[in-house]
This record gives sequence, structure tokens and C-alpha cells, in this order.
Amino acid sequence: MNLTPWQIYKRLLQYLVPYLGFFILSIFGYILYALTQTGFAVLMETIVSQMDNPSPNAYIFLPIAVISITFARGLGGFIGTYCLDRVAFNIVYELRKQIFSSILLLPRQEYLRQDSGSYLAILIYNVEQVTSACTSVVRTLVREGATVIGLIGYLLYLNWQLALLFFAASPFIAIVIGIASKRFRKLAKNMQSSIADITHAASESLQGNEVVKTFGGYETELQRFNRASDDFRRQSLKMTVTSALNSPVVQMLVSSALGLLIFVALYPDFMQPMPASEFVAFLITAGLIAKPLRALTEINGPLQKGIAAAKTLFAVIDSAPEKDCGTHSVARVKGELEFKNVNFQYTDSSVLKGINFTVKAGETVALVGRSGSGKSTLANLIPRFFELSSGSVLLDGVPIDEYQLANLREQIAIVNQQVVLFAGTIKSNIAYGGLEDKTAEQVQAALSIANATEFVDKLDRGIDTPLGEKGLMLSGGQRQRLAIARAVLKDAPILILDEATSALDNHSERYIQQALERVMQDRTTLVIAHRLSTIKNADCILVMEDGEIVERGNHQQLLVKNGLYAELYHQGFEQSEQARD
Ligand SMILES: Nc1ncnc2c1ncn2[C@@H]1O[C@H](COP(=O)(O)OP(=O)(O)OP(=O)(O)O)[C@@H](O)[C@H]1O
Ligand SMILES: [Mg+2]
Repeated sequence: MNLTPWQIYKRLLQYLVPYLGFFILSIFGYILYALTQTGFAVLMETIVSQMDNPSPNAYIFLPIAVISITFARGLGGFIGTYCLDRVAFNIVYELRKQIFSSILLLPRQEYLRQDSGSYLAILIYNVEQVTSACTSVVRTLVREGATVIGLIGYLLYLNWQLALLFFAASPFIAIVIGIASKRFRKLAKNMQSSIADITHAASESLQGNEVVKTFGGYETELQRFNRASDDFRRQSLKMTVTSALNSPVVQMLVSSALGLLIFVALYPDFMQPMPASEFVAFLITAGLIAKPLRALTEINGPLQKGIAAAKTLFAVIDSAPEKDCGTHSVARVKGELEFKNVNFQYTDSSVLKGINFTVKAGETVALVGRSGSGKSTLANLIPRFFELSSGSVLLDGVPIDEYQLANLREQIAIVNQQVVLFAGTIKSNIAYGGLEDKTAEQVQAALSIANATEFVDKLDRGIDTPLGEKGLMLSGGQRQRLAIARAVLKDAPILILDEATSALDNHSERYIQQALERVMQDRTTLVIAHRLSTIKNADCILVMEDGEIVERGNHQQLLVKNGLYAELYHQGFEQSEQARD
């Protein structure tokens, strides 16, 4: 959906509704602030006229007026700023929450298409840009706008003919603003994409630091990052040039108008004579307009930046979440899994072709095949990480897209090649998400099944040991055992193991093997296996090649067949796995 700037304003305004009270208060504050400016001009007129002809108590009244006006100005400014910032921070908070929840719900396909840097840039930089639109723009608009209106009113009151002459300059000012605004919008968009490049370049080199170091990527990464930074520098500079040129040009126009004014007022016999105090007040007032007027023209920078940023924000907020139209829901499935003529493609070329197989409840299927043959892809279809291109996958005879998405995923536990651990303790990582209310005893039991007690028990704080950047660092095998424990604790009827034992040494692998066999017993298991021990014990082995199942059967049958399986077997599954790593 392509939102116009006006639609974006309106949508931003809707975020204002819950905080309307504070917003109105801030407007009152700023109007009070603005009125003091006109008050000051009026005071000037009074002071000049009192000079010629002082009234008896002017020496008391005028100083008090000066102090009162300054006090009102300070009070109004404080109320305005405090209330407006309060509103803005709330809106930023609200927007961040919404964006993050939208990002979490995006289909997997979307994450693969966009790099994570651009999402981070949206969450951090774009939201910040919207803040400046919310605060500085509204602040300037209300405060300086009201100032300008007040001053204009006073000018008209003092001498409307002169005032109209002065305003004749305004169309020129408007044209300058129009040109600048177009350029701002374009520059703001460029800046946004270059900040995404910076975050992308930085986060990739930080995450892949080992590769950068071992493959001598220092120069390459440095250049890539510097290029992105340099791009940002150039865009920022262009923005500055535009905005810095903008205000002197406007000021020139204002002072030309002022000059014209003096010329007309002083030209003999041109206008009716004005009292000196009024003329001085008129000039002061006209001069006072220049600053707020300039500020008004400068809101374009943040405003256009804010709009460009808000547009991206709303695009993320509006992006379609994972499809979840199913209504079927069960407490616990039996676990019969059937693939019927399943075809799948990520983009244009087909990755899975005519996949047909059935796994009875409680049985184990091993997927075997060369790298890139489509094993992980097949496994990822079961929890509906991707939508099928055609065909169907049935769980207990019901197509998986008829299940409620959350209910379907409750039935499945996955252990992946890449183990993801979050900041938190060992316990919070194992009893993660929906498993939060599991007890420490249950966590301990899961750890012991996963053969992880051996290293967890050595820790002083046991399962309460913090993990992650500031906590305990784990080896690949230890991480994998924690991932297995997480899957064990979930106790789901369907278990998917994607090379779950690949990072374990032979010693722990044997333990894990026994443990997994225990875990697999009562559940349907789909295991992507490179290890002979896992494969041999499977009820059925599916051999994949180029997205198709080319052979199926048990270990003995497949060896007799002397096809691809026999070939892989003779190469030695483990060895081919090591060679690939
Ligand atoms: N997100 C993706 N977008 C497009 N194509 C993909 C994506 N993920 C995988 N592919 C392609 O799909 C094919 C199958 O990949 P898949 O990850 O399923 O292989 P695999 O059998 O699990 O391999 P491995 O044993 O190396 O893990 C590959 O040709 C790969 O290039
Ligand atoms: Mg894989």
C-alpha cells in the first residue's frame, strides 16, 4: 500500500488520540509562550510612548510588565515542552511495540528476503525520525506559528496598509520553501537507505567475525563499511547545504520587505504620518517575525524526514503476518504424518517435487541425501514456515493449514543445526516461551535425558547460570545438548531433528544417541541424518536427490538395491558429513 503524505499525517494523528489531554495542554503552553512575543512588541510601543510623555506610575508598571511577560514565557515554554515530549515518547513507545510485534509475526520468507539490518534501522533510526517529526515539528508549528499569527495581527492593528505591503513578500518565501521541501524528501529517503547499509555492514562483520579474521576480510569489510558511512556522510552534507541555504534566502526576502517598508513610510507625502512609537513598534514587530518565520520554514527538514520514516514504519506495521486461517485445534495429535504430492519452490525453481510418504504415529523416518537435496526444506514445511506450492501435508489426516498455526506448532519440537540461545539462564533457555511454567525438576530431567547434566552440574549456579555475551560461553556440542533438552522438555508428539548430533564428539554422541532413542520412542520423528547409527535404527529411510525421493526402505533393503543409498553408505555418511563441514 502506498500512503500519501496526507494519509501518513492522519495516521500519525491517530496515535495522538489517547494523549489528547497532554497534547492540548502543550498547545496552550506554546500559545502562552507565543503571546508573550506580541506582548513584548506592545510593551515596546508603550515604553517609547511613555518616554515622551510619562504617566505617574510608569516606573512601577513597566518593570513589573517586563518581569511578568518573561515569567509567562518561561512557564508556557516549560508546559509546552514537557507535555509534548511526554506525548512523543509515548507514541514512540507505542510505535516500537507495534513494529516489533509485526516483525516477529512476519512469514519466514520475508526475513529471508530483507536483511536484518534494515529491520534494525527501522526500529531504531526510523522511529527516532518520527520522534523529531512529532516533537520539533509540532513545537515549531504551534509555537512559532502562534507567534507569527500574533505578530501579524499586531502589525495589521498598527497599520494595515504597511502590513499588507510587508506581506507581499510572502509568495516568494513560499516558493523557496516549496523547492527546499522537495529536495528534503528525496535526501531523507537516501539517508534512510544508507543508514540501513551501515547497520547491515556492521552487523554482518560482527556476527561473522571469525570468517572475517581467518579469511583476511579486514580490508574488504572496512571498505564496505566505510563506503556505506561515506555515503551517509555525503547525504547528510547535502541535507545541511539545502537547509543552511534555505534560511538566509528567506531572511533576505524578509529584510527586503522591511527595506521597502521603511522606504514607503519615510517617502514624503506617501502615507499619513504615524506616531513615532507606533512606527518603532511596527519595525520591531516586523523584525521579530523573521525568526519564527525562518523556524517555520525549517520544519521541513525534520518533517520530510519524519514522513519518509513513518512511511517505512507503517509499511512494516501493515505487512501481512503469517497466514493463519485454520480453525482445527487438538490438545495432542497422535502424530500420523502424510505428504501428498507436495511441490515447493522458494522463488522460481522448484526445490521439492512430487513428495509422497507417510509416517505412522510413533515411527521414525530418516531423510538422507546430498547437501542441497531439499531435506531441511522438507522438514520446514511441517511447522508451516513456508507455504506449499501444491499438494498437501496431513497431520492425523487433517491438512496442516486447517490447524490453527499456534496449535500446529505446539505439536512439534525442533532441534536445528544452528542452535539459538537467548540472553538468560540455562533454565530460561530450556523452559523457553510456552514452556515457562515448567519446574526446575522438569528442566533437570530434560537435561539429564539430553546428557547435559554432566557439564551443567559442574557449574556453581547450575541451571541458574546466565548464558550469552556476558555469561557462560558454551561449546557447539554443549549448545546442542541444551537444544535437545529444550525439545525434550516440550514433549511434543512430533520431533524434527536436523542433524542434531553433528556437533557432538563420539563420546557424547553415543550418549545422545541413546537419549534420543528414548525420546523418539513414543513420538513421530523426522530426522535428517548423516550418521549411520541414526539411519540404521529408523523405521523408514527416504533418500533424496534434487528435491525428489529417489529411494525408500530400511537400511538392509536399500543396501540390496545398490543405488544412491548404497553409494552414500560406501562413502561413509559421517565422512561425507565431515568433508562438507
Ligand atoms: N530460503 C531459500 N530461498 C531460496 N532457495 C533456498 C532457500 N533455502 C534453501 N534453498 C535452496 O533449496 C535447495 C534445498 O535446500 P535445503 O536447505 O533443503 O537442502 P538440504 O538437503 O537441507 O542440504 P544440507 O544437507 O546441506 O542441509 C537448495 O538448492 C537451496 O539452494
Ligand atoms: Mg539442511
